[in-house]
Amino acid sequence: MEKLVINGGKPLFGDIEVSGMKNAALPVILASILIDDKCIIENVPNVSDVALAFEIIQSMGGSVRKINKTTVEIDTRNVTQGIAPYELVRKMRGSYYIVGAELGRFGRGKVGLPGGCDLGVRPIDQHIKGFEALGAEVSIEGGYIEAIANDGLKGSNIYFDAVTVGGTINVMIAAARAKGVTVIENAAREPHIVDLANFLNTCGAKISGAGTDTIKITGVEKLRGCTYAIIPDMIEAGTFMIAAAVTGGKLNIRNVIPKHLESISAKMEEMGIAVEEYDDYVTVYRKKEKLSRINLKTLPYPGFPTDMGPQMCVLMCQAHGVSLLNEGIFSNRFRYVDELRRMGACIKVDDRTAIIEGGQPLSAANLRAVDLRAGAAVVLAGLIATGRTEIEDIHHIERGYDNLVEKLRGVGANIKKVVLPDPATYEKAL
Ligand code: EPZ
Repeated sequence: MEKLVINGGKPLFGDIEVSGMKNAALPVILASILIDDKCIIENVPNVSDVALAFEIIQSMGGSVRKINKTTVEIDTRNVTQGIAPYELVRKMRGSYYIVGAELGRFGRGKVGLPGGCDLGVRPIDQHIKGFEALGAEVSIEGGYIEAIANDGLKGSNIYFDAVTVGGTINVMIAAARAKGVTVIENAAREPHIVDLANFLNTCGAKISGAGTDTIKITGVEKLRGCTYAIIPDMIEAGTFMIAAAVTGGKLNIRNVIPKHLESISAKMEEMGIAVEEYDDYVTVYRKKEKLSRINLKTLPYPGFPTDMGPQMCVLMCQAHGVSLLNEGIFSNRFRYVDELRRMGACIKVDDRTAIIEGGQPLSAANLRAVDLRAGAAVVLAGLIATGRTEIEDIHHIERGYDNLVEKLRGVGANIKKVVLPDPATYEKAL
């Protein structure tokens, strides 16, 4: 069993490097099934979800060759449709991009229904709506989603009832090789959607409008392999920005695209945190001791990202006064609040709004990472609290943060990963 042990209360100073974006790498890696060729992908984060995506590609007959720490060559020429193993795909949400990629390449796609963070209801009705608009028949049976387009995919107009990152990505992938033109209205606008569109266009696709709410995809017969670098992870960058602020230190957060961080920077500035923007890094530090309270609502991009809600909540615990955090995307994204309460945080949750009474000192405690970004939040809280904080279930954190412990140690955090014998084997050994 593994846990993190943090002795908090130390300000962090120095340079910290951001890795490639997990939520951009996953669609690019799985969309490579569509390409039916070799691709070189650079700036790939070393996180367990990405390792899982490679395992899935290999289990389907593809090959993945590590060229260096962050560059891989993926060859999907020998990929077979419909055999992605259930026990792998059910571990992560992004697995459902396999359906879009198989549909686009083979005219049929089948994969186990996705897993991922428990954030409340996470339907896929808009993915299904999109596939059906392209001419596929979609069924969900026995824990699998299957989409079959006997006459091949045909371009169509699709209006999403909900702004969905996954739905926009999945339909864009399938439509890239459909016959004719597809227009997606009310599309999600996240930077990782633009990244995927850029990857597919580099492979010969014809996609325009990514990053706006209307994306036009003109299907092409064939795509060819390419070399492509994944964008930096804006959520990892935002997490480090909060780390600088909550510990009262000063960090240069390198390898970022400041534009992607705009909503995060704006809300932090509003609280009294300085965010100095340079070409490919930001410098973050407190401008004043007493941070101002704020109201915050998480929204689709370019609004404040839901994946930064838990981390921002920790900063809001330090503000002077009562702050409100409204979760605008998911129905149950406050499971981390119980963990913060164990440290003395004074937070009430009313439906989708957390009411955060700032100024309560956080005390070290034994905590759990209940999901990926909740895990990031309890690490930040542990960095603040003087004394020894222990965090279990850290596999959630390792799904989306590349080398987090080493990166934080590099800027002065007293944090380490401890591997304990599994109690069962321990018993046996006694
Ligand atoms: C992606 O999830 C990310 N995951 C999430 O990041 C992120 O929080 C989310 O986008 C929003 O930005 C990956 O990229 C792997 P959605 P996804 O489809 O695609 C509703 C992390 O921490 N909806 O945009 O599942 C849905 O219920 C993870 O890295 C429908 O109603 O998000 C939700 O309320 C957590 N019907 C809202 O849209 C659908 O068919 C947003 O979901 C699909 C979604």
